[in-house]
Amino acid sequence: MRRPVALVLLFAAGAALAHEGVENPAVMARMELMKDVGTATGTLGEMVKGETPFDAARAAEARAALIDAADRVPTLFEARETDPESEALPAVWEDWDGFVASAMEMQDAARGLETGSAEALRARFGDLGQTCRACHEDYRLDD
Ligand code: HEC
Repeated sequence: MRRPVALVLLFAAGAALAHEGVENPAVMARMELMKDVGTATGTLGEMVKGETPFDAARAAEARAALIDAADRVPTLFEARETDPESEALPAVWEDWDGFVASAMEMQDAARGLETGSAEALRARFGDLGQTCRACHEDYRLDD
């Protein structure tokens, strides 16, 4: 029984390291939310590229996670919390309506994903990626 325990510890350490140095729990929460968005998008992207076999249930789950995450963006970002590790630009709060609209665009794109087959998923996946890039360009450091 040694091996599974060691593996669990390894993953736990990895998760902690990803946000090492973040002191503000509110900033940590919004980074975690975005990390989940990244994970769901990665799951879909791997299927689109054929790096993992297409799995309709997993694809539907990732789509649902993105829709849900978009709903949580306004709540988790609303307070103007800061942290030296944060990559959020002041524009998030200076152009709050634009930022929220950007989150809703991501949600619309996620809703527009067809998760019935790899081909159908591929057809709309680019639209989703564009909404990530659009928001990061305006509201995230170095993007
Ligand atoms: C409404 C704007 C917005 C949209 C849409 C958006 N992001 Fe982000 N994202 C941000 C902001 C702002 C940050 C920086 C947050 C911080 O560091 O405080 C961020 C950070 C991230 C991070 C780094 C998280 C971490 O570990 O610190 C990832 C990964 C990410 N986004 C992926 C995505 C993907 C993939 C999409 C599209 C499916 C997406 N984002 C859509 C605004 C957005």
